[in-house]
Amino acid sequence: MLGSFLGWFFYLFDPLANLAIPPIQPQARLRPENNVPVAAEGPWEDIITGHYGVPPLIRIHDRDGIVKWKFERDDVQQDLPDEIRKCLYSSANDATELKWIRNGTAVAAVYSALALIINHTPDNPETDKLITWAICRDNEFLWNAHTLEPLPGDRMAVGTTGQRPWDGVLVYNTSEALPLDPSPPILQNVTGLRAIHGLIWDEAGSALWAAGTDFAADGSDPEPARATIHAYPFDEATGLLQADDAYVYRLDEPIRQEVEWGAGFSWWVGAHDLVPIPNQRKFLISEDHGLHAFDIPTGRFTEHNAAVADKYMPGFRVTTNDRHGVDGDGVFQELPYGDLKGFSIAPDGSFIYVQSLWQKYRGNHTSIVENGVYREINQGLEIYRSRWFGNIDGWPKPL
Ligand SMILES: *[C@@H]1O[C@H](CO)[C@@H](O)[C@H](O)[C@H]1NC(C)=O
Ligand SMILES: *[C@@H]1O[C@H](CO)[C@@H](O)[C@H](O)[C@H]1NC(C)=O
Ligand SMILES: *[C@@H]1O[C@H](CO)[C@@H](O)[C@H](O)[C@H]1NC(C)=O
Ligand SMILES: *[C@@H]1O[C@H](CO)[C@@H](O)[C@H](O)[C@H]1NC(C)=O
Repeated sequence: MLGSFLGWFFYLFDPLANLAIPPIQPQARLRPENNVPVAAEGPWEDIITGHYGVPPLIRIHDRDGIVKWKFERDDVQQDLPDEIRKCLYSSANDATELKWIRNGTAVAAVYSALALIINHTPDNPETDKLITWAICRDNEFLWNAHTLEPLPGDRMAVGTTGQRPWDGVLVYNTSEALPLDPSPPILQNVTGLRAIHGLIWDEAGSALWAAGTDFAADGSDPEPARATIHAYPFDEATGLLQADDAYVYRLDEPIRQEVEWGAGFSWWVGAHDLVPIPNQRKFLISEDHGLHAFDIPTGRFTEHNAAVADKYMPGFRVTTNDRHGVDGDGVFQELPYGDLKGFSIAPDGSFIYVQSLWQKYRGNHTSIVENGVYREINQGLEIYRSRWFGNIDGWPKPL
């Protein structure tokens, strides 16, 4: 009852109901009518996976899990500022984010108590695994940072993944001309979106998209929180993200995480990964309870749960059969599409995902589906995310 009442309540105040908002349009150079050839990427053999542990481990491997390249802290031979070395050798077990950047010659990651960029030049051992940028997360702003994403002009957006009104996105200069600095100047501080777990650069729309919650996900605000995606158009003239409330899109209803964690659990269902569909102006978004498709031109959520799997991830399979419980109204619920901490779709239709184990924070394998056929790789590892190690067609990283 409460749920459907709130659904209507929020519908009345839904910013999407305001038709005056201009939709985000593809940049001229990427509009189909301009026929600018864009080379297809591929061949989609490489996957990057973060393995939790002390120390954590980042691996690039093939579709069978055969490791081609790895990074752990003992691989670092270069001189580092003391503070960065301390954060690298912290007791944090995190390997929370890992992304292909700089045309595959580097990896951006949240690793141990750092957010960093590591060279990936396996053919050149001189430069391979050098840290070219790193910030310490060992402070009140960044300790829970879950994700990062490059922006044009050597900038890096880092999601602070916190619950306070001033949490959001911090932007840094990652130019290799700058010396390593554990607490570098902040180019921009975009506040307002809590609990950011996904960030993706939209080259066609010239915007950064973030997935988080509109209020505190942990229930510490008087208002209920909903999984929310927010687009921040990038102003090329100033190099700044525009925080325009027009581009805020919320899921319909706030839901407490009681099915998994028990009656009275204060946390709200919040966003996890924000995943572009190759060559389409669409995202999939995962949250604790399910999966949703989002259409950029109309600013609407178009499919949910089974309909998302049927259309965009055929062959998706729940990874364990214990994903069920009783919600706050005493109703038994199955959550087979819930808690994909990380997932990634290749242009050939193959997809990978990491679904957290029930009542845990991470999975113990990576699921891969090719031509509708499901397999498990990386079995026995403690994993939060796996991603294709490539430039997703239609969603190139910034130049
Ligand atoms: C990116 O890397 C590929 C090979 O890995 C190369 O063919 C291509 O020229 C590179 N692109 C740029 C812009 O450097
Ligand atoms: C970002 O701005 C907010 C609001 O002005 C401020 O409270 C917060 O301390 C800033 N964050 C950082 C890392 O400076
Ligand atoms: C980043 O640092 C480089 C090297 O100092 C500089 O050339 C560039 O203008 C800086 N970028 C921004 C956005 O401040
Ligand atoms: C992964 O976790 C599931 C569910 O707890 C368990 O059945 C399975 O044996 C585990 N697999 C490995 C390889 O640890």
